[in-house]
Amino acid sequence: MLAMLNTIDKPIRDQLSSYFKDRVKYEEPMARHTYIKVGGPAEAFVTPAAEAELVTAIRLAHENRLPYTVIGGGTNLLVKDGGIRGMVISTGDCLTGITQSWETGDDVLIAAMAGTPLAAVCRYAVGEALAGMNFALGIPGTLGGAIKMNAGTHLGQIASALSRLTILQSDGQMREFSANDVTFGYRSLSFPANLTAAEKQWPPIIRSGTFLLKKTDGIRLKAERDSILKERRAKQPLDQPSAGCFFKNPDAVESAGMLIDLAGLKGTSVGDARISEKHGNFFINAGNASADDFLSLMDKAQNLVAAKFGIKLEPEVQIVGS
Ligand code: EPU
Repeated sequence: MLAMLNTIDKPIRDQLSSYFKDRVKYEEPMARHTYIKVGGPAEAFVTPAAEAELVTAIRLAHENRLPYTVIGGGTNLLVKDGGIRGMVISTGDCLTGITQSWETGDDVLIAAMAGTPLAAVCRYAVGEALAGMNFALGIPGTLGGAIKMNAGTHLGQIASALSRLTILQSDGQMREFSANDVTFGYRSLSFPANLTAAEKQWPPIIRSGTFLLKKTDGIRLKAERDSILKERRAKQPLDQPSAGCFFKNPDAVESAGMLIDLAGLKGTSVGDARISEKHGNFFINAGNASADDFLSLMDKAQNLVAAKFGIKLEPEVQIVGS
């Protein structure tokens, strides 16, 4: 059975403030930390400046029986208007950096910390003339979020390039896994052992990922990069606040964007939440949308697509909070 969790009372607040100083904020609107620009307040929003501070944050959460939610770039998150109880921990300032180690022949391993933007990992690979990351070009967010979601495009997914990963457990211990020892699904990752009750409340945090890349012709790699980014900009409304693709594709043939388009839903709005005219699977914030607006728009799209095609669309965005 899961144990009762605390909320942040004065003694806990004093403890957090004395350690994190101005790197902890209370009742911080999550709309400031998500690409889609909606979301109620985080009870405590912590931005550790170094890995040791991150370990302290998760240890304090565990000791005080506070739930925590880890966020990378906030690119794939829809936080409800009631906000998030407990601690929200951002990894963007504390788990950064990319290192390289050579393997045999043309094979090269690069390791990147989870708070590094995925775009920076792609840029690094292209800069070093290493093939294997171009599939991820244009995917926003941090590497940690991308590993957790097994992010991908029609060109590939994290699982196809990842060789090893490390995690931090809620007791602060680090563990390393081979990519073969974890299970990647469509936009999901699970660890070998069943999660214990404690791990459900304080789940492991992705710390780093190691990718196996191949030395290649740098000029060709750059040309490929340019054409992938060009195609993505042409098809997707990347200049407007969204959470990327809203729904998972139901299968390899049917695309959620195409079904929403065929259902005549492009341009449909609830409040300021709107289905993009450019791509049916992008829900954009056209001004001051609330999370409720997006959830109503999601219902509308799910109902109409189910009624017309008998297909239930499942959200790809992570819906969190209360
Ligand atoms: N289509 C329409 N109307 C639309 C949108 C798409 O008819 O409004 C058609 C397209 O013409 C195409 C098909 O649907 O024939 C597939 O569309 P697209 O190539 O745009 O790819 P997608 O399946 O909608 C996937 C990923 C994207 C990724 C692109 C490009 C998912 C859910 N989506 O989209 O990933 O950028 O391929 O590789 O896997 C994301 O994960 O956030 C994301 C946007």
